[in-house]
Amino acid sequence: MEQFEALVKKDDAGRLTILELPFDARAAFGKPRGTIHVCGRINGTEYRGKLLARGGGKFVMVLDKALQKAIGFAGQAMSAAVTMAPEEEKAGGESPEKAVDSRCGMDLLTAIKTRQSIRKFTERPVSGEMVNAILCAGMRAPTAKNKRPCHFIVITDRQLLSTLARQNTNAAMLEGAAGAIVVCGDKNREGIKEFLCADCAAATQNMLLGIHGLGLGGVWCGVAPNSDWRKLLIGQLALPPKVEPVSVIAFGWPDETKELCDRWEAAKVHCNRW
Ligand SMILES: Cc1cc2nc3c(=O)[nH]c(=O)nc-3n(C[C@H](O)[C@H](O)[C@H](O)COP(=O)(O)O)c2cc1C
Repeated sequence: MEQFEALVKKDDAGRLTILELPFDARAAFGKPRGTIHVCGRINGTEYRGKLLARGGGKFVMVLDKALQKAIGFAGQAMSAAVTMAPEEEKAGGESPEKAVDSRCGMDLLTAIKTRQSIRKFTERPVSGEMVNAILCAGMRAPTAKNKRPCHFIVITDRQLLSTLARQNTNAAMLEGAAGAIVVCGDKNREGIKEFLCADCAAATQNMLLGIHGLGLGGVWCGVAPNSDWRKLLIGQLALPPKVEPVSVIAFGWPDETKELCDRWEAAKVHCNRW
């Protein structure tokens, strides 16, 4: 992790707002080739980005409008306090998804066809390794403009699961679940706010498939806008402003089996027009 003061300014063409690195990023981060993805904070605001090489060991990072606003850039060159690390370093070494990749032998279409909502769970705990694999599946989901605005709150606290279960009959299965993952959308990060729910939904479905692929069971609990449950989640999870709870996944080892039925509906398929 590098800590430094850097200049934020418009580039020579006056089009892009850039942060100039005062060191050779390839040498500092031990990356002799390839794109360098970095993360850290600028004036306290979290960021994620990639570095552009400008020749002679010089590197810059382009700041999008949201980040410019968050760090207080108003068009004039300014100095900023920056922390920066290559992305892999922040993740803490090897990505957890590698550890469990080999466990899931199901092919993708079989997984999609056989996934079902599971609402009854045994008391068997789910390992942290499996939870990490599920989270990796969530982070692999597509997001609008690759903004990756989703945060994932893993709940294992029995008291909290119980509180959430008791305040929403549609989420009563949380009482017996091994855990839950609350998918939240960060409106501070999202470039196109109208896609926040879609981004979180894609992550949620990826995780449900990951859960199924690992032999676990799970169910998506919706968080209705303006509902008391949404307010409860915001309060209990101490969500910061502009971080929206979008879905809650209850998961655990399945304690129910269900019949699969065919869902093919030819009448819902249209060709070129309705
Ligand atoms: C946006 C959304 C919200 C949902 N909310 C709930 C919920 O609050 N409680 C619940 O038990 N299931 C919930 N579900 C799961 C659906 O009931 C379930 O997916 C549907 O009945 C089809 O069954 P399947 O998942 O087994 O295919 C939700 C699903 C979606 C996509």
